[in-house]
Amino acid sequence: MRSRIAVLASGGGSNLQAILEHFDRLGDARAGDVVVVASDRADAGALNRAMLRKIPFAVLATATRPEGAALDQLLDEHEIDLIVLAGYLRLVPARVVAEYRGRIVNVHPALLPAFGGPGMYGQRVHHAVIESGVRVTGVTAHFVDEQYDRGRIIAQWPVPVFAGDDVGTLASRVLRVEHILYPRVVNSVASGRTTLENCAVPSHDAPVDTRPAFTLLAHEESRLAENIELTLGC
Ligand code: GRF
Repeated sequence: MRSRIAVLASGGGSNLQAILEHFDRLGDARAGDVVVVASDRADAGALNRAMLRKIPFAVLATATRPEGAALDQLLDEHEIDLIVLAGYLRLVPARVVAEYRGRIVNVHPALLPAFGGPGMYGQRVHHAVIESGVRVTGVTAHFVDEQYDRGRIIAQWPVPVFAGDDVGTLASRVLRVEHILYPRVVNSVASGRTTLENCAVPSHDAPVDTRPAFTLLAHEESRLAENIELTLGC
């Protein structure tokens, strides 16, 4: 049986779109269906994308808009198994986290635990990355707990930071990777192959291969050593 997925998004919804298109490609092999999209912002592009796909959507209640939909009710009404945050800027209420522990995932446009936490979202993340001078950033998909960007990490992928990068060029390089990584993580969690328990510590008898996909392969070691020596001039 497929997981019933709610996607929560505050922005344009390109990650939502990537998930929908990945599910389209998988066809009957997909492990989930996006059955509702919700946003804390009435003007979120994600809602428009849901409308175009004829997926039910809702604007959530906030302090300034109490007449909006209540998240818990929406989840009950649509019999949601898995909550997928895709550019959702609000903290998920603790009671929802408790009820859905191990069944809420998020994507973050940096390599957590670096460049995460309260206030680290959208362009601010990429700005902080550039300001820090790091040469590598990336994408993190993780389970959600009660704190911003702190839940257990499921998968990460590195993205280079180039000398001439500004927030725009870096954000679009990172976003391309988000669109590849996140739909696959969502499908894996929806299928039950990736769980809060089995993505913890790499183990030889883990039911899934939890090594990061960019683990250095044996035949690449000499190339890396050569590159480092060339770069350092030693
Ligand atoms: C993405 O960079 C995501 O990692 C971050 O917010 C952005 C949302 O983009 N959390 P979109 O709304 O999916 O286009």
